[in-house]
Amino acid sequence: MKLIVVKDYQALSREAAHRGAEELRAHPNASVVAATGDTPMGMYAHLAELRDRGELDASGLRLFQLDSYLGLSADDPRSLYGWMKRSLLDPLGIPDERVVRLTGDAPDPDSVCEAYDAAVAAAGGIDLAILGLGRNGHLGFNEPPVQVDAPTRVVALATESIESNASYWGGQDRVPRRALTAGMSVLLKSRAILVLVSGTRKQEILRRTIEGPITPDVPASYLQHRSNVTIIADRDAAGSLSAQ
Ligand code: F6R
Repeated sequence: MKLIVVKDYQALSREAAHRGAEELRAHPNASVVAATGDTPMGMYAHLAELRDRGELDASGLRLFQLDSYLGLSADDPRSLYGWMKRSLLDPLGIPDERVVRLTGDAPDPDSVCEAYDAAVAAAGGIDLAILGLGRNGHLGFNEPPVQVDAPTRVVALATESIESNASYWGGQDRVPRRALTAGMSVLLKSRAILVLVSGTRKQEILRRTIEGPITPDVPASYLQHRSNVTIIADRDAAGSLSAQ
């Protein structure tokens, strides 16, 4: 695992876009799983600028949705698919048909999860995972405790996730209590994993991710000792951690 520490959120977004773009130029038909949430938004804006300048062609990519709230349709304002579409798919010119979705309002969500894992396997695995870090150490909505081989599945959101997601939608009562998430097994098997971490409120969980024991109670701790993982943190999140 490599830790890169940069000055602030702007530098983090530039660095992440630079590394992400390099990866995508090397693999123009890559299968990518990409987070929503606040942290990667600056990276996605930079990727869109690269595309607008003709320096990145995203037309061959295949996107796999990282997570979605159970029960919400794609046109609900809180839909994570809608968020991904506005922030990444449309700006990069990736059409809906190149996306493998975790449809939140399907009649049988368990079979959506099974079909997702089958689609990942058929694609030969994920090439690039772009992830944020939850304050409880979650990746996607793999809430603690989680096993290293957990498949894509329906989960209950942890209290910390309900609290943090409340800031996206204007209150805890607006946050659905259950979600579909790409499993730890999918994420950890990705060929390259980029984790973006910003702000002092992530300092303690980033320290536990990198220096604490590898434990189901901190899902991101499973990233330790994997050479394909790059964490980009700003100084506020890194605290006393230094680049490694
Ligand atoms: C988002 C997701 C979450 C977030 C994490 C950090 O699709 O799956 O794991 O990446 O909760 O969220 P932010 O970036 O808002 O701090």
